[in-house]
Amino acid sequence: MRQYILLELLALSTIILTDAQELQHVLADSTDRFPRLNFSSPSPLIFHSTFGLLQQWTNTFFPNGHTIAPCTIAKNTNLYHARGDGSFPPSPEWFGLDAEMSYFIAGAMPDSHLLTYRTTKNVKCVYFDGTSASLMDDGSMDAQMLLLHNNSANVPDRPAFSPPPRNDTNGRHLCGHGYADDNCTHWNPLQAEYDRASGLCDFIKEKNLGGPGWGFEGVVRMNAAFELIWCNFSSPSAKLVSWLNVSAPLLDGVESERRPWELKLFSGAAEDLTEPGPPTGPPREGAPSGGGGTRWPGRDHPFQSYSIYEWFHAAAKRYGFMGSFPGRGEARVRIDSCGLFTFHEPALKHQVHARIEQERKLYNLTAPGYWTSPEDENDRQAALTKLMRRRRMQRATAVGATDGLYMRAEVEDRMRTALEVAAEACSGIDWLLTTEEIVASFGGDLYDMSTTLSANVSLLEGQELRSRVARVREVLHGRWIPFYEYPRYTADSLNTAFALFAPESQQALARCKTQYAPFDLSGLPASEQTTYAAVAEVLGAICGTLLPVFLSLEQLWLANFNNVSTPPPEATSPLYADAQLVLSRNKRAIEELMAWLGWADQWTSCTPGCVIGQVCYIPIWPTGGMQMGRGGPPGNGTRYGYPPRQPGGMDHTQEYLWEPRCVDAEHYPPE
Ligand SMILES: *[C@@H]1O[C@H](CO)[C@@H](O)[C@H](O)[C@H]1NC(C)=O
Ligand SMILES: *[C@@H]1O[C@H](CO)[C@@H](O)[C@H](O)[C@H]1NC(C)=O
Ligand SMILES: *[C@@H]1O[C@H](CO)[C@@H](O)[C@H](O)[C@H]1NC(C)=O
Ligand SMILES: *[C@@H]1O[C@H](CO)[C@@H](O)[C@H](O)[C@H]1NC(C)=O
Ligand SMILES: *[C@@H]1O[C@H](CO)[C@@H](O)[C@H](O)[C@H]1NC(C)=O
Ligand SMILES: *[C@@H]1O[C@H](CO)[C@@H](O)[C@H](O)[C@H]1NC(C)=O
Ligand SMILES: *[C@@H]1O[C@H](CO)[C@@H](O)[C@H](O)[C@H]1NC(C)=O
Ligand SMILES: *[C@@H]1O[C@H](CO)[C@@H](O)[C@H](O)[C@H]1NC(C)=O
Ligand SMILES: *[C@@H]1O[C@H](CO)[C@@H](O)[C@H](O)[C@H]1NC(C)=O
Ligand SMILES: *[C@@H]1O[C@H](CO)[C@@H](O)[C@H](O)[C@H]1NC(C)=O
Repeated sequence: MRQYILLELLALSTIILTDAQELQHVLADSTDRFPRLNFSSPSPLIFHSTFGLLQQWTNTFFPNGHTIAPCTIAKNTNLYHARGDGSFPPSPEWFGLDAEMSYFIAGAMPDSHLLTYRTTKNVKCVYFDGTSASLMDDGSMDAQMLLLHNNSANVPDRPAFSPPPRNDTNGRHLCGHGYADDNCTHWNPLQAEYDRASGLCDFIKEKNLGGPGWGFEGVVRMNAAFELIWCNFSSPSAKLVSWLNVSAPLLDGVESERRPWELKLFSGAAEDLTEPGPPTGPPREGAPSGGGGTRWPGRDHPFQSYSIYEWFHAAAKRYGFMGSFPGRGEARVRIDSCGLFTFHEPALKHQVHARIEQERKLYNLTAPGYWTSPEDENDRQAALTKLMRRRRMQRATAVGATDGLYMRAEVEDRMRTALEVAAEACSGIDWLLTTEEIVASFGGDLYDMSTTLSANVSLLEGQELRSRVARVREVLHGRWIPFYEYPRYTADSLNTAFALFAPESQQALARCKTQYAPFDLSGLPASEQTTYAAVAEVLGAICGTLLPVFLSLEQLWLANFNNVSTPPPEATSPLYADAQLVLSRNKRAIEELMAWLGWADQWTSCTPGCVIGQVCYIPIWPTGGMQMGRGGPPGNGTRYGYPPRQPGGMDHTQEYLWEPRCVDAEHYPPE
């Protein structure tokens, strides 16, 4: 009731109050018209993680994956495996979904082969979101390591990418990680990767979730573009269609060259790894299992620089949503959204509690999860940026023993449900599509509103004030078309008719909030209920914030601007101050909603946009060029790559991430 009265006061204020000071007071008290946003809630995190699945763009901005999803690779999909020798691939090994990726990794050796396979049926897979194939200890691989090792305490503190053997001070050879055997005779920088691949395939096998020709047969991950760990190359689910020697004639007259990092990796001089920088990327397919050495295109390779651009370009084709416009993402893989598992699920008590505690300190949140804005506007903007990007910092590193048992059991259970025999338990609703529709509907408009509401109306003249209010009103109205019925009103009843608690307003709110409510909500399996709870809370926040914004604009408009014959207000009219207050208050509410939603990837783009032939560049490991690698000394979770991620910070890598720019093959990577 208090809200109702305040709203009435507010609406009347444009007519009765002329004292701006007094009006300000009323407005300051009226902020509770907007729903209070719970920044500790997992809902915006689950929502945005679901939305981003299989999209290169979103997962590059938010690389610490938190979702494990059953998926399907479409029948008749081509899969590429390059290797540096002519042998049949062992199992498990990797497929690139794009030949460009395979070629760069292992196609430029003296005896390189590209094997193309094609799926003979829809094949089940399990997908880890984020940059789950980036060989770094920065959070990219948390989810898969947890599935393999049960809980955070068990995850070994070993690099994702093994350093070369070290010699002790007497020059004696020391054993370490990265050996394929106990005698330390075969050092493989990718041993940790092979262990992960076998471990994940063993999980499938042990739980009887798949095998050659049936059920789950691979693991989908992403770095630059998407790849597949294929558990068994003898499986009839993918047939070999060609096997080519792709070694190209090398350039003459150029000294043959190995990559600088490669020399270091294979020279055994571990300490050299810190200078001048870590490897820009891993060799993988056909990586040496002893001696030898993977060779990426060097100066003597005719396609050296173009092939890295091509790999990046292949990744860019799978960007998916950008600037709130839908794209296809990695469409050759489809998510089975009935069985999503996320590390934000409330049942993971220890993990969830740790996140909430940490973020309370980091972002000054209160116990119920509320955020209080700093007084100063610059501080406020900086804080909002950090909040909007908070998902980038989150890691699943506090998964306790009980959390871990729950995770293993649930992932197994949801994978089993995804097998066709058990799939009737699912509702059939595509939750990815739901989240994408919501982002498509509101993402761009929220940004648009936040900028149109930023207007300083004191600078407007004549009809400009009316035009500005009309512009904001138009955008808002568009979002309410499916939900709102205009009430009957007179000049006297205007404020009551458009009050927040007017029946038309509340009915519109209910329609907006439940716009994706399933008809059989109680019949949904638990995993879908969790997903829907996140969707519902996100819609609640969006609709709950946009309704007071919409109503206050309607009131402002109908009371002052609706009569086209009314002359424009005098420059000294209190209408200017009133309009400014309405705009500013609504702008703040929308900015806070945007921070809470965290769709930072959707509000980042190349400005100006790119022309045909160009691509909007963001740094994607490992194709981002050397500027990504200068991450300081190894250790502290950044052994081989980026500097530590800073909340909202602008470190070397992030400069390009948050201010992406257009590139083409000749200007790649950007200076
Ligand atoms: C905010 O969310 C957290 C995590 O779910 C919860 O513990 C807390 O009670 C919520 N706050 C409110 C006011 O509901
Ligand atoms: C792959 O499948 C074949 C045929 O079923 C089997 O003999 C082989 O052991 C499997 N390899 C692995 C690594 O599971
Ligand atoms: C593949 O091609 C390269 C370059 O022509 C050649 O050196 C190599 O011997 C070939 N490998 C095989 C197995 O024929
Ligand atoms: C993980 O937990 C399962 C079930 O309790 C157990 O069988 C398995 O040995 C554990 N794995 C590790 C690496 O601790
Ligand atoms: C490390 O030890 C191995 C075997 O003892 C030796 O061959 C190699 O030269 C040593 N490397 C360095 C950098 O001292
Ligand atoms: C490791 O060394 C022992 C003793 O020299 C030998 O018997 C064994 O075969 C070696 N194993 C491998 C994998 O080289
Ligand atoms: C938290 O409070 C500090 C000190 O007042 C301030 O500098 C910082 O910007 C605040 N952060 C957020 C996210 O509000
Ligand atoms: C609008 O612009 C005027 C003149 O530049 C300035 O004095 C005033 O503070 C601005 N108001 C707002 C709300 O930004
Ligand atoms: C619209 O404004 C004109 C000019 O001020 C006025 O004469 C007319 O009565 C107004 N119409 C209504 C419906 O208020
Ligand atoms: C790692 O972090 C610790 C504590 O923050 C710091 O003392 C140490 O110097 C860091 N090490 C490196 C190699 O940056």
